[in-house]
Amino acid sequence: MGFFYYIAMQEITYSTNKKSTTSIHFTYDKRFFMELAGDRRTAIITSGNITKSYPEIFEGQNVIVIDDKEYHKNLATIEEIASKLLLLGFDRHSFIIGIGGGIVCDIAGFVSHIYMRGLRFGLIPTTLLAMSDAAIGGKNGVNFGENKNMLGCFDNPDFIIADSSFVQTLPKEQYLSGLGEIIKYALIGNENILNILQNEREKILNRDNETVNRLVKESILTKVQIVENDPNDTSTRHILNFGHTIGHSIELTEKLPHGMAVVKGMNAAVDLSERLGLLAHDKAMEAKKLLTDFGYDIMYNLSETHFNILCHDKKKEDSQIRFVLLEDIGKPVIKKLPIEQIPALIG
Ligand SMILES: NC(=O)c1ccc[n+]([C@@H]2O[C@H](COP(=O)([O-])OP(=O)(O)OC[C@H]3O[C@@H](n4cnc5c(N)ncnc54)[C@H](O)[C@@H]3O)[C@@H](O)[C@H]2O)c1
Repeated sequence: MGFFYYIAMQEITYSTNKKSTTSIHFTYDKRFFMELAGDRRTAIITSGNITKSYPEIFEGQNVIVIDDKEYHKNLATIEEIASKLLLLGFDRHSFIIGIGGGIVCDIAGFVSHIYMRGLRFGLIPTTLLAMSDAAIGGKNGVNFGENKNMLGCFDNPDFIIADSSFVQTLPKEQYLSGLGEIIKYALIGNENILNILQNEREKILNRDNETVNRLVKESILTKVQIVENDPNDTSTRHILNFGHTIGHSIELTEKLPHGMAVVKGMNAAVDLSERLGLLAHDKAMEAKKLLTDFGYDIMYNLSETHFNILCHDKKKEDSQIRFVLLEDIGKPVIKKLPIEQIPALIG
């Protein structure tokens, strides 16, 4: 299956198959996004935090506000949205725009994919994490029980507007959560991001718009490249899960923001890489320094609950769990480890 993202100075366009193409833009403008939606009837799915911070976006629109907590990222919320779409008289020719963080984007994409067997959608990610990661790549879905993103689909939006100025209103913890995923791109191979992280620390922490914009663009380029080569996440795309195997179990157990849990997961993956003799000690220290330099709490303490969650993770294959580890900074490697060995290795 072909997958094509078109990338220009102001726009990136990608496509996961011959039928769909996604254009990625970096400047939000209301007239522009309505133009992208075309003359289709449009509903915006968003959250209360966004309507409060950016009320002007929603004037005169059909708006469905959801509670974008991780524990509401579930089928009940999908049903609620579908009921509202039905009430609005939406059909397959209507259009959905998701405006919000990764939770809103994942939900908007999933409900668009299944409502009346699918209608088209666009995404305007408003968190650092969503614009640099979650909105890109066509994965949509919800949690099921204790299992993260267990029910979902692959479907790419018609457009994504990744405007870094939205991060100015983010709570600090959410900003750092997004930065965690950006550090991931540096550790799995984007040298430009590594350079920016190592040389522009103050600007990053002060949310300098030009610097954040560069980080977002670089992250998108990396993700697009990886996703185009493996749109259905069957092989090379797995490297994007660096820090996520353990990170997901921490996110669910400790109720931490996604990227903060991924930071702890990356620290655990670095420890595991060193313990398995894949990563030299000085390189492990260098990777950890990249995390602690931005003030993250990288400590993790794994219990039976974490291991139980790992056993149900999508990264489990038969009696093994797939980990993304490091052989060097920027050199990820995928290893499968028998479940019974894992507590001793990272407990
Ligand atoms: N589909 C994917 O490929 C993918 C990749 C990574 C993460 N995810 C998912 O993304 C989710 C996490 O997304 P997230 O980190 O964006 O968190 P989030 O969606 O929970 O948003 C965090 C908080 O910030 C608020 N918010 C959003 N934008 C804001 C803004 N501009 N100003 C002020 N407040 C704002 C939200 O209302 C929310 O309270 C997880 O569910 C994770 O599984 C998906």
